Amino acid sequence: MRKKEFDSIDWEPKIIGFLCKWCSYAGADLAGSSRLIYPPSINIIRVPCTSRIKPHFVVKAFATGIDGVLISGCHPGSCHYVNGNYKARRRFSVLRRLIEFMGMDPRRLQMSWVSASEGFKWADVVRKATEEIRQLGPNRLFIEGET
Ligand code: FES
Repeated sequence: MRKKEFDSIDWEPKIIGFLCKWCSYAGADLAGSSRLIYPPSINIIRVPCTSRIKPHFVVKAFATGIDGVLISGCHPGSCHYVNGNYKARRRFSVLRRLIEFMGMDPRRLQMSWVSASEGFKWADVVRKATEEIRQLGPNRLFIEGET
């Protein structure tokens, strides 16, 4: 079956953001309360720590047609659960290889460190992730009849 064309100018990617509640979620909140402008492409899911993000959360997001996943948490050394973000970082690198193995561009899965005081950085991270995923186009891996 022939791939449907999409209008890359009007098209907005759908991104799920898994954010640690202590740092990145608070940073996103600061960006919002500071009225910083960033793309509305991201839907945020608050988690207690990035270590709480299990691989199947990410795979399921992609399987439901999400175009990109952004994992964001405390800076290395600042995790409220000591080393949760180190575990998440290791899991992230394995997950990137897994989604590449599944036939998906690994850039669809991104990770960043954003603290509670980094509202500007959060807005920047979302802008860059949105732009990079926009360049990749829609995630069609799980659409029946398309490859
Ligand atoms: Fe924020 Fe662990 S508490 S990444």
